[in-house]
Amino acid sequence: MINTPIDSTIVNKKIADSTIKEVGKASIREIKRLVDEIESATGEKFIRMEMGIPGLPPNKYGVEAQIEALQEGVAAIYPDIQGIPVLKSEIALFVKNFLDIDVKPEGCIATVGSMQGSFASFLLLSRIYKERNTTLFIDPGFPVHKMQHKVLNLNFETFDVYNYRGEALREKLESYLSLGHIHSVIYSNPNNPSWICFTDEELKIIGDLANKYDIVVLEDLAYLAMDFRKDYSQAGQAPFQPSVAKYTDNYILFISSSKAFSYAGERIGMMVVSNGLFQRKFENLLNYYVSDGFGYSMVFGTIYPLSSGTSHSAQYGLYGVLKAANQGKFNFVEEVKVYGEKAKIMKRLFVENGFKIVYDKDLDNPIADGFYFTFSYPGMDGAELLDKLVYYGISAISLAITGSERIEGIRACTSLVKESQFGDLEERLKAFHEHYQ
Ligand SMILES: Cc1ncc(COP(=O)(O)O)c(C=O)c1O
Repeated sequence: MINTPIDSTIVNKKIADSTIKEVGKASIREIKRLVDEIESATGEKFIRMEMGIPGLPPNKYGVEAQIEALQEGVAAIYPDIQGIPVLKSEIALFVKNFLDIDVKPEGCIATVGSMQGSFASFLLLSRIYKERNTTLFIDPGFPVHKMQHKVLNLNFETFDVYNYRGEALREKLESYLSLGHIHSVIYSNPNNPSWICFTDEELKIIGDLANKYDIVVLEDLAYLAMDFRKDYSQAGQAPFQPSVAKYTDNYILFISSSKAFSYAGERIGMMVVSNGLFQRKFENLLNYYVSDGFGYSMVFGTIYPLSSGTSHSAQYGLYGVLKAANQGKFNFVEEVKVYGEKAKIMKRLFVENGFKIVYDKDLDNPIADGFYFTFSYPGMDGAELLDKLVYYGISAISLAITGSERIEGIRACTSLVKESQFGDLEERLKAFHEHYQ
């Protein structure tokens, strides 16, 4: 029996008491609960890398605007289902300023986190065509999107993009799209979990194919402008966050306020539907909704029955954040750069102690330092490695639940790890390496 940094008897008991069969295969929230329990039973702090919670204080422009709105009494009043008008216009301006995309305010919809935007979109898109019933995931990806498909009983297919970067992406995508059963394609950019960032060449390939096969592209920008190798932070000035919206008018963007604005707790996000798609009519929608209009069915047929809109005060909060960003008063990218700085140090500590970075390249460049990174340990698969790391006070999630083919890998999130914990992290990694090399 080896002596591990966290008391193994307690860890074993907590795992046995939980409903988790194998730590390495558990969902993000299950791991979170298990680690909460081990921490409170042992009094030891874990290096917590399982959940993408922002590790920064909430955005002050948001908090101020939200408090003001609450004091003015908005809590008593139902908000417009499609979002309050000032917010819709501010989202359109934000998208123009930071992505250089023109979209009308009508297509800019407030949602209960980006999560609700994707849920509503999956539901609606699965109904636009009778003969198309499948979403294609360009993976690895955010596991909850697949969970949403499962609870909605919707079909999806997936491939790991790592070996299909650049021009190779075209043929791979066409091998699915040409079969005629795909209605939409989803990916996140920067990518959760691998942090690869699509280039304009790749986004053009996706956009061109969306036009050729009439596919809707769902671009998840949860980490908008967080490819810190480029400065996307200046309102109205190039370079802009790359987006498929430059290459097709068949898109929906999901812009989360959770990470970029540290506003996860208020559950407010933005869904941006292109002008063309918002106005488009799909005959098959009449089997489910009173209108064949895409935008109308999204707002009045989908968002309405899901939640009757989004928290009134949170919409004012987001309005406050976007206004400050649009006016150049608040550099939201500067605020979150610390995640990249932490990733750089943490990756070094892992590599120095025998671990490998799994998604290590972004085309020909080393992967950028951002909100997430991926790692493995020679001779172990991800599930086994996670099982073992719990005894060393380190928690993360397995890449196996992200649609990655790299089953040896683990996703680490940098946000909750404090710089004061780097010493502990190093010691624990050293102990692990001594025991297993
Ligand atoms: C890729 C991706 N999409 C969506 C979300 C969810 O965003 P929200 O908190 O706005 O619902 C996350 C959160 O981790 C994410 O990583």
